[in-house]
Amino acid sequence: MITGIKPTGTFPHIGNLMGAMLPLRENAKKYDTAIFIPDLHALTSIRDGKVLNENIRNGLIAYLAVLGRDTEVTIFRQSDIVGLTKLEWILNCFTPYSLMLRAHTFKDYKQKEQQAKNANYNGEIGLIVDNWEMENFSVKEWEVVSSDFNMWTFNYPILMAADIIGYDCDVVPVGKDQLQHLEMARDIARYVNHHYKADIFVEPKPIIDDSIAVIPGLDGRKMSKSYNNYISMFESSADLKKKIATIPTDSLPLEAKKNPDECNVFALIKTFGEKKEIEEIRAKYKKGGYGYGHAKQDLHVILDRFIGPYRDAYEELNKLSDEELFEPVRRWNAKMQKRLDEVLERMKKYIGV
Ligand code: ADP
Ligand code: TRP
Repeated sequence: MITGIKPTGTFPHIGNLMGAMLPLRENAKKYDTAIFIPDLHALTSIRDGKVLNENIRNGLIAYLAVLGRDTEVTIFRQSDIVGLTKLEWILNCFTPYSLMLRAHTFKDYKQKEQQAKNANYNGEIGLIVDNWEMENFSVKEWEVVSSDFNMWTFNYPILMAADIIGYDCDVVPVGKDQLQHLEMARDIARYVNHHYKADIFVEPKPIIDDSIAVIPGLDGRKMSKSYNNYISMFESSADLKKKIATIPTDSLPLEAKKNPDECNVFALIKTFGEKKEIEEIRAKYKKGGYGYGHAKQDLHVILDRFIGPYRDAYEELNKLSDEELFEPVRRWNAKMQKRLDEVLERMKKYIGV
């Protein structure tokens, strides 16, 4: 099993933890598992080497905090594997242009570009819309469009295909947003196999677990980075308290009987509490004499207990120098390098390079 988790900068939130990281830890009991940090993919949005390296370190810490430093899972760094981008180029040569035109990411960007053109945007950094198609693409134009609409938007799924088929893996756990990329990787593997009439690449299958619950955020919507309604898996006790204080509730007085199932605080209590305490708190809501302040205090105790072990692990891991922290990654990189080399050797017999 293989999967890549982009180092985005913020620590995973407890929705990511429950919805992706803990299920991955469970699956790792069944499969020989590798997780990699797709730093080449992260270049699409992070354009500062120092920041990228900090994010990679933090991403590694988050995974080690969940899996433990002595984990059997292989954690490696995408850009350290020599020959991955060679495979990517080779896959480029087999990928129909029309297949890539269908990718959601690319279509989204195409649409954004069109909107910018339509709006005839002429903003601060000086996009000259009239000259959009001009022969000498100016630095000014580049500044405006480059951070978004570069060739990565088109090639992104092909690099991902190399990640997926380069190591002979059987399964890939993906969120629904990444499913199309996985299907494309399977298509590309099949085109090559078909052309050479040989089983050069394995076509891995997705693992999508629909039974995983959606964790609610502070405002009752799905917990998400983009809604800024999240609680980080390493949140300090004090910050946790502050965030819980912001949860909106109705204005029923303390004495009033309350409906727990319509309360954002209770939604989180229900997700992270233990069975017995959930039922006790539910009864208090219904009886009255239990205010939202009390509920928030109870939630603080529950979440602090849940986050505690991850926060402690973080504090220990963060004391390590890069040298110490990445020591096992060097071993894991070497293991995956060997696997890629085997695939490349097999491929060379047919493809010639
Ligand atoms: P975000 O919405 O914060 O940007 P991502 O889209 O990066 O989160 O999600 C990464 C992984 O975490 C995905 O596998 C996704 O299913 C899982 N995940 C994210 N938010 C939640 C949530 N609120 N409940 C359950 N799982 C979640
Ligand atoms: N594209 C994925 C994301 O944005 C990260 C990723 C890169 C990945 N290569 C992968 C995921 C291979 C699964 C398999 O989250």
